Amino acid sequence: MTAQIISGAELAKEIRGQLAKEVEVLKQKGIEPGLAVILVGDDPASHSYVKGKQKACAEVGIRSTLLTFPATITEQFLLEKIQELNADPSVHGILVQLPLPSHINELKVIETISPEKDVDGFHPINVGRMMVGQKAFLPCTPYGILVMVKSIGVDIAGKHVVVVGRSNIVGKPVGQLFLREHATVTYCHSKTNNLAAITRQADILIVAVGKARLIGADYVKPGAVVIDVGVNRLENGKLCGDVNFDEVKEVASYITPVPKGVGPMTITMLLHNTIEAAKELMHR
Ligand code: GUN
Repeated sequence: MTAQIISGAELAKEIRGQLAKEVEVLKQKGIEPGLAVILVGDDPASHSYVKGKQKACAEVGIRSTLLTFPATITEQFLLEKIQELNADPSVHGILVQLPLPSHINELKVIETISPEKDVDGFHPINVGRMMVGQKAFLPCTPYGILVMVKSIGVDIAGKHVVVVGRSNIVGKPVGQLFLREHATVTYCHSKTNNLAAITRQADILIVAVGKARLIGADYVKPGAVVIDVGVNRLENGKLCGDVNFDEVKEVASYITPVPKGVGPMTITMLLHNTIEAAKELMHR
C-alpha cells in the first residue's frame, strides 16, 4: 500500500480562495488588512520565506509592507521600529522573521510586538492564551498542521500523536494543539533514548527537527499519518524533509511532501491570522 499524499499546496489554494473573499468583504467596509514584515540580515532562507509570504498576501488582497535592515542594527533600534508599527493603525499584523542575529534577544523582540498584532502567535501572552484555551493567535505552522490533519477526516481524539522536536515555533505548540483535540501526546527530541521505539507507536507522527531524512520506514507504524515539517537544503540544491519520503510512503497511510506540504499551509494560516487581526481591530 502506498500512502496518500496530503497536498498542502492544494489545500492552501482552496483556503486562500475563501480568504480572498473575506478580504473583499472587509474592504467594502473600508478596512484593508495590513501586514508588516521585518527582515534583519541576509540569510537566504529567510529572504525566500519572506518573499513567499508577501506573494501570498498580494494574492488574497492583504497589503504587506517589508522593512529590511542590515544584520548590524542594534536591538534598541529594532524594538523602536516595532513600537512604531504597534502604534500604526494601518498595520494589523507584525511579523519579525526569525532567526535574528545573535546579538539581538529574540524573546525581547517578540515581547515588544503588541499581542493583538502578533499574527505569528509567538508572544508569551498568545502562547499562554492558547495553553488555557482562550482565544489567541495560533502559531502558523502548528495551526496549518492541524488543519491538514483535519482535512483528511481522521478522528484525532484518543490518537497517539508523537512530536519529534521541541522548538517554541513548532514542536511545543503543535503538541498543545493536538492535546486540545484530545490526542495523547508524546514529545521526543535530541536527547530521547530509542527514538524509533517511540515514533513507531504514533498514529500521527509530526517531525520538526531539521535533520534530512532522519525518519526512515523503521520509525513508522504501518498506517500512520506522517507530517514532515523539515525543510533541509541538500548539497545538490534540492529541498528535502526530515522524513525519508520514498521509504515512508510505503508504510504510512498519509504523508506530507516537502516541498508543497506544510510550508504553504504555514503561510495560509499567517494570512488567516492577519485577517482576524484586522477584524478584531474593527471591534475595538
Ligand atoms: N522562522 C521560521 N519559521 C518562522 C515563522 O513561522 N515565523 C517567523 N516570524 N519566523 C520564522
